[in-house]
Amino acid sequence: MTGTMTSERAPEGLDTEAVVIRVRGLTSGFGDINVLENLDLDAYRGEILGVVGASGTGKTVLLRTVLGLIPKRAGTIEIFNVDRAKADLAQREAIDRRLGVLFQQGALFSSLNVLQNVQVPMREHLRLPQSLMDELALLKIELVGLSADAAIKFPSELSGGMIKRAGLARALALDPDILFLDEPTSGLDPISAAEFDDLIRTLSDTLGLTVFMVTHDLDSLHTICDRIAVLADKHVLIEGAFSDMLEFEHPWVRAYFRGTRARGING
Ligand SMILES: Nc1ncnc2c1ncn2[C@@H]1O[C@H](COP(=O)(O)OP(=O)(O)OP(=O)(O)O)[C@@H](O)[C@H]1O
Ligand SMILES: [Mg+2]
Repeated sequence: MTGTMTSERAPEGLDTEAVVIRVRGLTSGFGDINVLENLDLDAYRGEILGVVGASGTGKTVLLRTVLGLIPKRAGTIEIFNVDRAKADLAQREAIDRRLGVLFQQGALFSSLNVLQNVQVPMREHLRLPQSLMDELALLKIELVGLSADAAIKFPSELSGGMIKRAGLARALALDPDILFLDEPTSGLDPISAAEFDDLIRTLSDTLGLTVFMVTHDLDSLHTICDRIAVLADKHVLIEGAFSDMLEFEHPWVRAYFRGTRARGING
């Protein structure tokens, strides 16, 4: 079942044009240990890909390696058909500008208010007058469902859900084509998590974003993900639709997708 393309959004056969992230034979790790070995994974344009796996299996390492923040030990990673390892600085910067990231640990700057946080990538990559940056940042803040009041608040003054939204606004600052989310709904109550899921789905649909989402949240996987990739034993064990997960025979996949927590979803 590995490598099957069951989502309606995924193309028939291998349409390389539609693959926006192509990972082949990836090995990544620290010291004597490889966290990921010989891992293959594709993400298709416009899809929401859910990446799931037990805690410590290397989901965050995978996301950070794809982003070039952790050096890979072997394999290739192509984003928009460009291999970062073979690209020059200008090409790498051009790609990085098209990627938005919401890290697992929120990572807002505590000394900056929300508006200023959202402007950090703009300052890094664009040369714009302050008034224009203010306007653009306010648009992003509105887009993620925060009020203008929230724009002048500091991270310590925000709820967990507001922090997630502010982080999302910052990830969207440069109008990315691919959005990387690491556990975006962790720590949110089920209603806030569902609202956040709706927001991601709407953004993906309206902006045509590809979303690479690491998540533990079965509801998110079921409700908004077009395809799911399961990480286990250092590689992607299976890629497919939610229904494929229910049929796959592997102890962890079975326990996760057909265990007690999954009952409400599977009926
Ligand atoms: N900077 C680092 N140095 C050394 N080891 C690391 C580093 N970052 C991660 N690891 C190790 O890599 C493995 C995978 O970690 P990772 O954070 O990717 O797990 P995860 O699947 O994201 O887990 P969780 O679901 O809890 O977030 C773990 O054993 C972790 O200890
Ligand atoms: Mg993680």
